[in-house]
Amino acid sequence: MTPSVRILGIETSCDETAAAVVENGRILRSNVVASQEDLHARYGGIVPELASRQHIRLILPVIDEALRRAGVGWADLSAIAVTYGPGLVGSLLVGVNVAKALAFAKGLPLVGINHLEGHVYANWIEVDGSPEPQLPLLCLIVSGAHSDLTLMLDHGKFRRIGRTRDDAAGEAFDKVARLLGLGFPGGPAIQRAAEMGNPEAYPLPRAEIREGWDFSFSGLKTATLRLVERLRGSGPLTEQQVADIAASFQEAVVDMLVAKTVGAARAFQVPQVALAGGVAANRRLRERLRAECPVPVIYPPPSLCTDNGAMIAAAGYFRFRAGERADLDLDVVSNLKLE
Ligand code: KG4
Ligand code: ZN
Repeated sequence: MTPSVRILGIETSCDETAAAVVENGRILRSNVVASQEDLHARYGGIVPELASRQHIRLILPVIDEALRRAGVGWADLSAIAVTYGPGLVGSLLVGVNVAKALAFAKGLPLVGINHLEGHVYANWIEVDGSPEPQLPLLCLIVSGAHSDLTLMLDHGKFRRIGRTRDDAAGEAFDKVARLLGLGFPGGPAIQRAAEMGNPEAYPLPRAEIREGWDFSFSGLKTATLRLVERLRGSGPLTEQQVADIAASFQEAVVDMLVAKTVGAARAFQVPQVALAGGVAANRRLRERLRAECPVPVIYPPPSLCTDNGAMIAAAGYFRFRAGERADLDLDVVSNLKLE
């Protein structure tokens, strides 16, 4: 029997302080996420300075807890994987510097991971005996900062075929939630409100980009803003109106994401489609894509869609296995691309 490869994954690119231990790229031994949601909620969005300070406070206890829950010590680890971009510079710096210090102190190899690649690898974590994803994959990566259609041709080999031309899907969810007074983060709040609403209550526009696989969400966002202004002209929104707007908005976002993803799955004849990123937790998106896509659609459980250390450890395993190592001069790259 070959010995297990255990990777400690560290993720601090945005507002979650996270660490996890994953075995052989697929077996989740522990997954600790300290959310800063409450800290940023009162500002209606992430305050970068507060985020990095909170990472500094939480990162070591979070790592200790990840090792404790996994029941492993430093000597049981094979390597440390850490997100070095894209993300907020001050946030990334905390994870990268802690990872470098620990790698040096404990004599462990270090692997630098692209956050978006991590989101894709969340699909590798085994859940109830789920099989390993088949390559090539078409990945719809939808988060607070990205909306990309990317072909994953092999491990570590990506080709972006589409992107958002303006807002990211998650950003649109967050802005509309704020507009409706639903709080932060917006995605889960819109999803919850939409459950009581009628998705056909208000006709909202879908961006028509005929050629290629790009997205655009700013027209929809502006139209939703105008609708809310118009309705507020005759008094505060009722709970039913909020639910109907949330449902109509969510349906429009899902329509656009599903249309391009299904079109690209056909055009590139991929055997499988994978969802990744925080917005991949959206129930309506998951249902509709599964129903309408000509090939099987896979997605991680909601807790592995939003930022976490397990996805970084999983991605780290495949890079570690390929012989990749980062030096102690590893630096953060806030606009790192996945290609
Ligand atoms: O991947 P992620 O945790 O962080 C980034 O890398 O950006 O994604 C966060 C985004 C937020 O915009 C949040 O509102 C959105 O994912 N999100 C959702 C849902 N859960 C999180 N959007 C729609 N439906 C959800 N259930
Ligand atoms: Zn993310």
